[in-house]
Amino acid sequence: MTQEQWTAVDHYITDLLVPPDPALDAALQSSAAAGLPPHNVSPNQGKLLLLLAQIHGARTILEIGTLGGYSTIWLARSLPADGRLITLESDPKHAEVARANIGHAGLGDIVELRLGRALSTLPQLVAENRRPFDLIFIDADKPSNPDYFAWALKLSRRGSLIIADNVVRNGAVIDTTSSDPSVQGVRRFNELLAESSRVSATAIQTVGSKGYDGFAIALVTAED
Ligand code: SAH
Ligand code: DHB
Ligand code: MG
Repeated sequence: MTQEQWTAVDHYITDLLVPPDPALDAALQSSAAAGLPPHNVSPNQGKLLLLLAQIHGARTILEIGTLGGYSTIWLARSLPADGRLITLESDPKHAEVARANIGHAGLGDIVELRLGRALSTLPQLVAENRRPFDLIFIDADKPSNPDYFAWALKLSRRGSLIIADNVVRNGAVIDTTSSDPSVQGVRRFNELLAESSRVSATAIQTVGSKGYDGFAIALVTAED
């Protein structure tokens, strides 16, 4: 199987099941035009996030890693009118592009973007007692994933859902000796999923337009 096939099948799925959407399409276009890296979830992955949030009945969502707001828009669209999504981004340029995209999507009242390194803004959310979040999407710098998992647990309740992107990394995740800090971050994160008595988790490998990767999903099964 080749990347070309994975991309062609992703286009087939997306053409069938993910209709063009002006705000989402504009978010991708403006992100590319501003020179942001193409690290957004793919359209069919974005729709999976929407469906998971809807199945879960999420009313409060936390996202770590906004980029241009593409996954933010998908997730925020799952929310009821009084729902809230907080998204954390450290890059001022990414945040500026995302704010415009989120506003253009009509989600400015539902989404709050906090600029700053997530390891600084996450403790603020705890201090402000913004917990619990029904769904937490971890998709920022991978070396920090173990820390993000600890904060996600602090900001969870029994029944919260934690989803993490990019936990397979082209298969590098099984390279125990990898010197790549992202691989080590993801490996430690996956181990924490296994070690934590508060979650029940699995991970799924994916292929598609973004290559070979995967996501992890964890249900918080116990309070602190
Ligand atoms: N969730 C987005 C993609 C996020 S890409 C989508 O699917 O559309 C990862 C983002 O995390 C980048 O915008 C990067 O600037 C941001 N990031 C990296 N390190 C960070 C940190 N320490 N705190 C917050 N955001 C960070
Ligand atoms: C990278 C980050 C992501 O969140 C992603 O989905 C794909 C790639 C990266 O940093 O390379
Ligand atoms: Mg990602």
